[in-house]
Amino acid sequence: MRIGLAARGWLFILLRILIVIVILILIAFFHLILLCAMLPTLEISMIRPTTPADTPFLVPLTEATGVFKPIEIEALKEVLGDYHAHTHKMDHHSITYEKDGTVLGFAYYAPAPMTDRTWYLYWIAVSKQTQAKGLGSTLLKYVEEDVQRAKGRVLFIETSSLPHYQLTRKFYLKHGYEQAAVLPDFYSEGDDMVVFRKKFG
Ligand SMILES: CC(C)(COP(=O)(O)OP(=O)(O)OC[C@H]1O[C@@H](n2cnc3c(N)ncnc32)[C@H](O)[C@@H]1OP(=O)(O)O)[C@@H](O)C(=O)NCCC(=O)NCCS
Repeated sequence: MRIGLAARGWLFILLRILIVIVILILIAFFHLILLCAMLPTLEISMIRPTTPADTPFLVPLTEATGVFKPIEIEALKEVLGDYHAHTHKMDHHSITYEKDGTVLGFAYYAPAPMTDRTWYLYWIAVSKQTQAKGLGSTLLKYVEEDVQRAKGRVLFIETSSLPHYQLTRKFYLKHGYEQAAVLPDFYSEGDDMVVFRKKFG
């Protein structure tokens, strides 16, 4: 009689453990189904080093922003070619913003030669269709963090005074850059160079 009661007690405990295990399996299964349903809508964005395979995307993307002169687009092709050939070994950096396998922007920066930890942001561009959605800010933040990691003291950016660069100048001011200088007629008559800078630490 006593053994029978004990056996029933154990059976009851076993049954409860089994029920808990089944519930846990059901919860895990439910989460798996939920994850599978969400997978197609998950967007994967990343910033990664620019590769030679990016050039055929980055050059037209930059051209299509509509703000650069043809001579600057030619210069970009050379800059990227030189970067992959050798300047990447001279502390030049080029980063690509990619979302779901599509190249959407890039930034190119390097230390200024013969200076004490002064850096230049030479290029930054985001595809026209995805501008004003925070991608440029994400790229700029990455650049600033990288320059600071490399003990950079100050970051300089040059741009133009022309009206179609007004949003670009606003972008730098919004990110805490100060307008350090204006070189009148630098690029051409009436097209000044506007120099922005941000000091670190
Ligand atoms: C400048 C650039 C890199 C900014 O990247 P972005 O992803 O468009 O900018 P974000 O979404 O991160 O930031 C938006 C802010 O930047 C400014 N801005 C710059 N370009 C803008 C645009 N095309 N549309 C709206 N706002 C723009 C605005 O101040 C805006 O903030 P606000 O709406 O609060 O005023 C990008 O617009 C671009 O590629 N422009 C053309 C190329 C260029 O000028 N490169 C720099 C040469 S020096």
